[in-house]
Amino acid sequence: MSEEMAGGSAVTPEQRKEALVERVFGSAIGFMELLSIYVGERLGLYRALADGGAATAPELAATTGTDERYAREWLEQQAVASILEVEDQRAKPEARRYRLPEGHDEALLERDSLYYVAPFAQMMVGITRPLPAVLEAYRTGRGVPYPEYGEDMRHGIAYGNRPMFVNLMGSEWLPSVPDVHERLQADPPARVADIGCGTGWSSIAIARAYPKARVNGFDADEESVAGARSNAEAEGVTDRVTFQVRDAADPELSDRYDLAIAVECVHD
Ligand SMILES: C[S@@+](CC[C@H](N)C(=O)[O-])C[C@H]1O[C@@H](n2cnc3c(N)ncnc32)[C@H](O)[C@@H]1O
Repeated sequence: MSEEMAGGSAVTPEQRKEALVERVFGSAIGFMELLSIYVGERLGLYRALADGGAATAPELAATTGTDERYAREWLEQQAVASILEVEDQRAKPEARRYRLPEGHDEALLERDSLYYVAPFAQMMVGITRPLPAVLEAYRTGRGVPYPEYGEDMRHGIAYGNRPMFVNLMGSEWLPSVPDVHERLQADPPARVADIGCGTGWSSIAIARAYPKARVNGFDADEESVAGARSNAEAEGVTDRVTFQVRDAADPELSDRYDLAIAVECVHD
């Protein structure tokens, strides 16, 4: 069957080529934009603009400990990408003031918000880290160990998913399964296994929503479990939430829990 355009005429190879080129070119620009968001987030540039208000390149460089020329390049790119706004376009480059518009601050900085998208930039940077190993895996059929994706991927996933856990786990997701919701509130305290818990935010959200529940988070990745432990400590839930480096396939975990969940980790 031939592809058809909206008007009913068949798509020519020329048009198909043009459409693909346009799409890939747009993706390349989008990818560069993600990298610039990564730079702004990791170097605290957005935070400085949110806390201190509009700034020139020299001011931003001074408050963030960055080089003035690099700060200017970044500010100009962010304005062209419509992420930042320029207050005075006619001013000389070094005197031009840039601001983070209302709304963008939430999307780029508020880690509890469901609109928080900055972690996706970090995730996309992380996903490129083991690409040579991924190419090799395509040839051999073997896998790429999760730790090889490194900190950016780990944090990107953790903070990309966290807003859903903070906002929805105890108010929508688990209450939508009435018998689970009831058991989590009842005595004796429910035992919950959080499989592939990553840095623990889902386990912590369950413990916060259900104060009686006892949650054991399991993950095969040592760095994730170390992060989960320190997150639980910071959130003050270590009396009810523990984490262990453990393979989810461990048969010893069977029949020990009232609820076992696996969030964002069963992919195929
Ligand atoms: C995409 S991450 C999701 C992490 C966390 N659930 C979240 O939503 O932020 C998948 C996690 O599953 C873990 N994982 C993969 N296979 C596992 C296994 N066999 N046993 C335990 N954890 C595993 C990985 O180490 C990784 O932390």
